[in-house]
Amino acid sequence: MDLKELLEKRLPERELQFLKGAFDVIGEVAIIEIPEELSHRERDIVDALLDMHPRLKTIYSKGSERKGVYRLRELKLIYGEEKETEHKEHGYRIRLDVSKVFFSPREANERQRIARLVRPRENVMVMFAGAGPYSIAIAKHQPKVGKVFSVEINPDAYKYMIENVRINKAGDKVVPVLGDVDDVCTPYFGKCDRVVMPLPKGAYEYIKLAAKCLKKGGGVIHYYFLSSPDALDEIKEIVSVDIQSVGRKVKAVKTAKVSEYAPKTLKFCMDIRVK
Ligand SMILES: C[S@@+](CC[C@H](N)C(=O)[O-])C[C@H]1O[C@@H](n2cnc3c(N)ncnc32)[C@H](O)[C@@H]1O
Repeated sequence: MDLKELLEKRLPERELQFLKGAFDVIGEVAIIEIPEELSHRERDIVDALLDMHPRLKTIYSKGSERKGVYRLRELKLIYGEEKETEHKEHGYRIRLDVSKVFFSPREANERQRIARLVRPRENVMVMFAGAGPYSIAIAKHQPKVGKVFSVEINPDAYKYMIENVRINKAGDKVVPVLGDVDDVCTPYFGKCDRVVMPLPKGAYEYIKLAAKCLKKGGGVIHYYFLSSPDALDEIKEIVSVDIQSVGRKVKAVKTAKVSEYAPKTLKFCMDIRVK
Protein backbone atom coordinates (compact mmCIF):
# COMPACT_ATOMS: atom_id res chain seq x y z
CA MET A 1 0.00 0.00 0.00
CA ASP A 2 1.39 3.44 -0.86
CA LEU A 3 1.11 6.70 1.10
CA LYS A 4 -1.88 7.96 -0.89
CA GLU A 5 -3.81 4.75 -0.27
CA LEU A 6 -3.03 4.91 3.45
CA LEU A 7 -4.23 8.51 3.62
CA GLU A 8 -7.47 7.83 1.74
CA LYS A 9 -9.14 6.96 5.05
CA ARG A 10 -7.95 10.14 6.75
CA LEU A 11 -8.08 12.84 4.03
CA PRO A 12 -10.95 13.98 1.78
CA GLU A 13 -10.43 13.58 -1.99
CA ARG A 14 -10.06 17.37 -2.53
CA GLU A 15 -7.03 17.33 -0.20
CA LEU A 16 -5.53 14.06 -1.42
CA GLN A 17 -4.89 15.57 -4.86
CA PHE A 18 -2.20 17.83 -3.34
CA LEU A 19 -0.21 14.94 -1.90
CA LYS A 20 3.09 14.15 -3.61
CA GLY A 21 3.36 10.37 -3.30
CA ALA A 22 7.17 10.18 -3.34
CA PHE A 23 9.27 10.53 -0.21
CA ASP A 24 12.74 9.37 0.78
CA VAL A 25 13.65 6.94 3.51
CA ILE A 26 17.30 7.19 4.56
CA GLY A 27 18.02 4.70 7.32
CA GLU A 28 15.56 5.56 10.10
CA VAL A 29 14.81 9.04 8.67
CA ALA A 30 12.05 10.00 6.21
CA ILE A 31 11.95 13.24 4.21
CA ILE A 32 8.68 14.27 2.60
CA GLU A 33 7.33 17.29 0.76
CA ILE A 34 4.15 18.62 2.37
CA PRO A 35 2.46 21.21 0.18
CA GLU A 36 1.08 24.35 1.80
CA GLU A 37 -2.48 23.08 1.18
CA LEU A 38 -1.80 20.08 3.46
CA SER A 39 0.15 21.78 6.24
CA HIS A 40 -2.82 21.27 8.63
CA ARG A 41 -2.59 17.51 7.85
CA GLU A 42 0.98 17.08 9.06
CA ARG A 43 -0.05 14.72 11.90
CA ASP A 44 -2.05 12.47 9.53
CA ILE A 45 0.88 12.29 7.12
CA VAL A 46 3.29 11.43 9.95
CA ASP A 47 0.92 8.68 11.18
CA ALA A 48 0.61 7.23 7.67
CA LEU A 49 4.39 7.22 7.22
CA LEU A 50 4.81 5.47 10.58
CA ASP A 51 2.22 2.87 9.53
CA MET A 52 4.27 2.18 6.40
CA HIS A 53 7.69 2.35 8.09
CA PRO A 54 7.29 1.57 11.81
CA ARG A 55 11.05 1.80 12.41
CA LEU A 56 11.29 5.50 11.51
CA LYS A 57 12.84 7.58 14.30
CA THR A 58 12.79 10.96 12.54
CA ILE A 59 10.55 12.60 9.92
CA TYR A 60 11.35 15.89 8.21
CA SER A 61 9.31 17.92 5.78
CA LYS A 62 11.19 19.73 3.02
CA GLY A 63 11.65 23.42 3.80
CA SER A 64 13.34 24.43 0.54
CA GLU A 65 14.95 23.16 -2.64
CA ARG A 66 18.55 21.96 -2.45
CA LYS A 67 20.85 24.95 -2.55
CA GLY A 68 24.39 26.21 -2.06
CA VAL A 69 27.72 24.52 -2.69
CA TYR A 70 26.90 21.68 -0.28
CA ARG A 71 23.57 20.96 -2.05
CA LEU A 72 21.54 20.91 1.19
CA ARG A 73 17.93 21.83 1.81
CA GLU A 74 16.23 23.35 4.82
CA LEU A 75 14.38 20.67 6.79
CA LYS A 76 11.58 21.00 9.31
CA LEU A 77 11.43 18.34 12.01
CA ILE A 78 7.86 17.01 12.20
CA TYR A 79 8.44 13.80 14.16
CA GLY A 80 11.08 12.36 16.50
CA GLU A 81 14.50 13.80 17.11
CA GLU A 82 17.33 15.14 14.96
CA LYS A 83 20.05 12.52 14.88
CA GLU A 84 22.44 10.80 12.51
CA THR A 85 21.29 7.64 10.79
CA GLU A 86 22.70 4.67 8.96
CA HIS A 87 21.42 3.77 5.50
CA LYS A 88 21.94 0.34 3.98
CA GLU A 89 22.06 -0.36 0.24
CA HIS A 90 23.57 -3.17 -1.83
CA GLY A 91 25.52 -4.61 1.10
CA TYR A 92 27.22 -1.47 2.43
CA ARG A 93 26.32 1.14 5.05
CA ILE A 94 26.28 4.93 4.80
CA ARG A 95 26.20 6.85 8.08
CA LEU A 96 25.23 10.53 7.92
CA ASP A 97 23.21 13.41 9.29
CA VAL A 98 20.75 14.31 6.52
CA SER A 99 20.60 17.93 7.71
CA LYS A 100 24.35 18.40 7.14
CA VAL A 101 25.23 16.10 4.23
CA PHE A 102 23.74 15.46 0.79
CA PHE A 103 22.52 11.92 0.19
CA SER A 104 19.99 10.47 -2.23
CA PRO A 105 18.78 6.88 -1.76
CA ARG A 106 17.24 7.13 -5.24
CA GLU A 107 20.69 6.80 -6.82
CA ALA A 108 21.50 3.37 -5.37
CA ASN A 109 21.04 1.67 -8.75
CA GLU A 110 23.12 4.28 -10.55
CA ARG A 111 25.93 3.72 -8.03
CA GLN A 112 25.75 0.00 -8.80
CA ARG A 113 25.81 0.67 -12.55
CA ILE A 114 29.04 2.65 -12.17
CA ALA A 115 30.57 0.14 -9.72
CA ARG A 116 29.93 -2.71 -12.17
CA LEU A 117 31.92 -0.89 -14.88
CA VAL A 118 35.10 -0.64 -12.78
CA ARG A 119 37.81 -3.17 -13.70
CA PRO A 120 40.56 -4.60 -11.45
CA ARG A 121 43.53 -2.27 -10.81
CA GLU A 122 41.74 0.83 -12.11
CA ASN A 123 42.33 4.08 -10.22
CA VAL A 124 39.10 6.04 -9.91
CA MET A 125 38.56 9.71 -9.05
CA VAL A 126 35.16 10.42 -7.45
CA MET A 127 34.68 14.19 -7.47
CA PHE A 128 31.88 15.62 -5.24
CA ALA A 129 32.05 12.44 -3.14
CA GLY A 130 29.70 13.46 -0.29
CA ALA A 131 29.61 10.90 2.52
CA GLY A 132 31.19 8.40 0.13
CA PRO A 133 28.38 6.31 -1.37
CA TYR A 134 29.83 6.10 -4.92
CA SER A 135 33.34 5.40 -3.61
CA ILE A 136 32.20 2.69 -1.22
CA ALA A 137 29.90 1.11 -3.83
CA ILE A 138 32.94 0.86 -6.14
CA ALA A 139 35.31 -0.50 -3.47
CA LYS A 140 32.75 -3.09 -2.36
CA HIS A 141 31.75 -4.26 -5.83
CA GLN A 142 35.28 -4.32 -7.24
CA PRO A 143 37.61 -5.31 -4.39
CA LYS A 144 40.54 -5.40 -6.85
CA VAL A 145 40.16 -1.69 -7.70
CA GLY A 146 43.39 0.34 -7.31
CA LYS A 147 42.63 3.55 -5.40
CA VAL A 148 39.36 5.50 -5.27
CA PHE A 149 40.37 9.15 -4.69
CA SER A 150 37.28 10.86 -3.26
CA VAL A 151 37.10 14.65 -3.08
CA GLU A 152 34.52 16.53 -1.00
CA ILE A 153 34.33 20.19 0.03
CA ASN A 154 31.80 19.92 2.89
CA PRO A 155 33.74 19.13 6.13
CA ASP A 156 30.73 17.30 7.64
CA ALA A 157 30.39 15.08 4.55
CA TYR A 158 34.16 14.47 4.60
CA LYS A 159 33.98 13.48 8.29
CA TYR A 160 31.18 10.99 7.51
CA MET A 161 33.08 9.69 4.47
CA ILE A 162 36.02 8.81 6.75
CA GLU A 163 33.59 7.09 9.13
CA ASN A 164 31.89 5.22 6.27
CA VAL A 165 35.19 4.06 4.83
CA ARG A 166 36.01 2.68 8.28
CA ILE A 167 32.70 0.89 8.94
CA ASN A 168 32.74 -0.63 5.44
CA LYS A 169 36.39 -1.71 5.76
CA ALA A 170 37.33 0.11 2.55
CA GLY A 171 40.33 1.94 4.01
CA ASP A 172 42.91 0.32 1.74
CA LYS A 173 40.99 1.47 -1.36
CA VAL A 174 39.11 4.73 -0.73
CA VAL A 175 41.23 7.86 -0.17
CA PRO A 176 39.06 10.70 1.23
CA VAL A 177 40.31 14.19 0.27
CA LEU A 178 38.87 17.37 1.83
CA GLY A 179 38.69 20.42 -0.42
CA ASP A 180 37.47 22.09 -3.57
CA VAL A 181 38.20 19.89 -6.61
CA ASP A 182 39.62 23.00 -8.24
CA ASP A 183 42.31 23.20 -5.54
CA VAL A 184 43.13 19.59 -4.66
CA CYS A 185 43.09 17.52 -7.88
CA THR A 186 46.55 18.40 -9.26
CA PRO A 187 48.30 15.44 -7.52
CA TYR A 188 45.94 13.08 -9.38
CA PHE A 189 46.54 14.45 -12.89
CA GLY A 190 47.41 11.59 -15.25
CA LYS A 191 46.74 8.96 -12.55
CA CYS A 192 43.13 7.86 -13.11
CA ASP A 193 41.32 5.43 -15.41
CA ARG A 194 37.89 6.76 -14.54
CA VAL A 195 36.39 9.97 -13.15
CA VAL A 196 32.89 10.10 -11.63
CA MET A 197 31.25 13.56 -11.46
CA PRO A 198 27.97 13.33 -9.46
CA LEU A 199 27.20 17.07 -9.32
CA PRO A 200 24.38 17.48 -11.86
CA LYS A 201 24.10 21.21 -11.18
CA GLY A 202 27.62 22.37 -11.89
CA ALA A 203 29.82 19.42 -12.96
CA TYR A 204 30.22 21.15 -16.32
CA GLU A 205 32.69 23.66 -14.84
CA TYR A 206 35.06 20.82 -13.99
CA ILE A 207 35.08 18.73 -17.18
CA LYS A 208 38.57 19.92 -18.18
CA LEU A 209 39.83 19.05 -14.70
CA ALA A 210 38.33 15.58 -15.02
CA ALA A 211 40.03 15.06 -18.40
CA LYS A 212 43.36 16.07 -16.85
CA CYS A 213 42.94 13.42 -14.14
CA LEU A 214 42.81 10.65 -16.76
CA LYS A 215 45.91 8.64 -17.62
CA LYS A 216 47.76 9.46 -20.85
CA GLY A 217 46.32 6.32 -22.47
CA GLY A 218 42.78 7.57 -21.76
CA GLY A 219 39.83 6.51 -19.66
CA VAL A 220 36.18 7.25 -18.94
CA ILE A 221 34.40 10.28 -17.47
CA HIS A 222 30.92 9.79 -15.98
CA TYR A 223 29.42 13.23 -16.33
CA TYR A 224 26.07 13.97 -14.62
CA PHE A 225 23.85 16.82 -15.78
CA LEU A 226 20.26 18.06 -15.94
CA SER A 227 18.66 18.53 -19.33
CA SER A 228 15.62 18.12 -21.49
CA PRO A 229 15.95 15.03 -23.72
CA ASP A 230 16.13 17.15 -26.89
CA ALA A 231 19.31 19.01 -25.83
CA LEU A 232 21.56 15.95 -25.55
CA ASP A 233 23.39 16.39 -28.89
CA GLU A 234 24.18 19.99 -28.06
CA ILE A 235 25.54 19.02 -24.64
CA LYS A 236 27.69 16.28 -26.18
CA GLU A 237 29.17 18.85 -28.55
CA ILE A 238 29.93 21.38 -25.79
CA VAL A 239 31.55 18.73 -23.57
CA SER A 240 33.64 17.37 -26.46
CA VAL A 241 35.01 20.84 -27.26
CA ASP A 242 36.03 21.26 -23.61
CA ILE A 243 37.78 17.90 -23.51
CA GLN A 244 39.61 18.64 -26.77
CA SER A 245 40.77 21.98 -25.37
CA VAL A 246 43.01 20.13 -22.90
CA GLY A 247 44.58 17.98 -25.62
CA ARG A 248 42.29 14.94 -25.30
CA LYS A 249 39.92 13.31 -27.77
CA VAL A 250 36.41 11.99 -27.20
CA LYS A 251 36.22 8.47 -28.65
CA ALA A 252 32.66 7.48 -27.71
CA VAL A 253 29.72 8.77 -25.70
CA LYS A 254 26.85 6.79 -24.19
CA THR A 255 24.06 8.65 -22.41
CA ALA A 256 21.77 7.05 -19.82
CA LYS A 257 18.77 8.52 -18.03
CA VAL A 258 19.30 8.46 -14.26
CA SER A 259 16.02 9.90 -12.96
CA GLU A 260 13.27 12.47 -13.46
CA TYR A 261 14.20 15.79 -11.92
CA ALA A 262 11.43 18.26 -12.78
CA PRO A 263 8.76 18.56 -15.47
CA LYS A 264 10.63 18.19 -18.80
CA THR A 265 13.99 18.04 -17.00
CA LEU A 266 15.77 14.74 -16.44
CA LYS A 267 19.01 13.77 -14.77
CA PHE A 268 21.37 12.07 -17.23
CA CYS A 269 24.80 10.50 -17.07
CA MET A 270 27.10 10.70 -20.09
CA ASP A 271 29.75 7.97 -20.08
CA ILE A 272 32.50 9.64 -22.12
CA ARG A 273 35.38 7.50 -23.37
CA VAL A 274 38.42 9.75 -23.74
CA LYS A 275 41.76 9.12 -25.46
C1 LIG B 1 24.98 16.22 -5.50
S1 LIG B 1 26.02 15.98 -4.08
C2 LIG B 1 26.61 14.30 -4.34
C3 LIG B 1 27.21 13.69 -3.12
C4 LIG B 1 27.51 12.19 -3.24
N1 LIG B 1 28.30 11.90 -4.40
C5 LIG B 1 26.24 11.38 -3.23
O1 LIG B 1 25.86 10.86 -4.29
O2 LIG B 1 25.62 11.26 -2.16
C6 LIG B 1 27.42 16.96 -4.52
C7 LIG B 1 28.49 17.05 -3.46
O3 LIG B 1 29.59 17.79 -4.02
C8 LIG B 1 30.12 18.64 -3.04
N2 LIG B 1 30.78 19.73 -3.79
C9 LIG B 1 30.20 20.77 -4.44
N3 LIG B 1 31.11 21.53 -5.06
C10 LIG B 1 32.33 20.96 -4.81
C11 LIG B 1 33.65 21.27 -5.19
N4 LIG B 1 33.92 22.34 -5.96
N5 LIG B 1 34.66 20.46 -4.79
C12 LIG B 1 34.39 19.36 -4.01
N6 LIG B 1 33.14 19.02 -3.61
C13 LIG B 1 32.11 19.79 -4.00
C14 LIG B 1 28.94 19.06 -2.18
O4 LIG B 1 29.33 19.43 -0.88
C15 LIG B 1 28.08 17.76 -2.19
O5 LIG B 1 28.39 16.95 -1.09
